[in-house]
Amino acid sequence: MTGVVPAFLEARRSIRAFRAEPVDRADLDAIVEAACIAPAPHHSRPWRFVVVDTTGAKADLAAGMGARWRADLEGDGVAPERVDELVEASRVKLVGAPALVVGCLTWDGLDRYPDEQRQRAEWGMALLSLGAAVENLMLAATDRGLASCWVAAPIFCPPEARDALDLPDTWLPHALVMVGHPDPGYTGRVRPPVPLDDLRTFR
Ligand SMILES: Cc1cc2nc3c(=O)[nH]c(=O)nc-3n(C[C@H](O)[C@H](O)[C@H](O)COP(=O)(O)O)c2cc1C
Repeated sequence: MTGVVPAFLEARRSIRAFRAEPVDRADLDAIVEAACIAPAPHHSRPWRFVVVDTTGAKADLAAGMGARWRADLEGDGVAPERVDELVEASRVKLVGAPALVVGCLTWDGLDRYPDEQRQRAEWGMALLSLGAAVENLMLAATDRGLASCWVAAPIFCPPEARDALDLPDTWLPHALVMVGHPDPGYTGRVRPPVPLDDLRTFR
């Protein structure tokens, strides 16, 4: 640990509790714009962002992803009461966030290969790029005093998330960020120090 991580990076934390007030659409636009200057393969922009800030759309998205998660959990043999508990907790979390920004991937601007291996690598590059875009979005949110937290759910069910939001077939949701004004009472985990010597090596 060197202790010299820039303050603007240190400031971003996953905050999972929000005040009830909505987020201005101008702020949501600004953070999506920040996402869209992320590095991407071949100068492409293979992502699309869906800002979900209406009650009905949040409920539809939570229901669509929840149905798929329910089926997966049941397939895993999880006890029915536990399935109900997990799916309901996820629904409450999603509908309770003032805004959800859903990051989708498309093939727009990506190269096509005749073989599966390179095709998968190309998609992998787009996915990496979406991760960079999401980090930009969360840093921009932090910069505006907004709270954010990445939620994994859509990567497990891109078609269900797409259909719940009535998106084009070619938009595949892979990331979701809850955004809102931070609940001042929320305390997250203390960020552990970075064990640099374990996580990097020089050659
Ligand atoms: C791909 C990805 C998926 C995540 N999914 C979830 C999630 O489903 N629920 C959640 O509460 N946090 C989720 N997180 C947030 C992590 O838990 C969080 O980033 C981590 O604990 C580090 O804390 P920090 O972001 O405050 O530094 C996710 C983060 C990433 C990068």
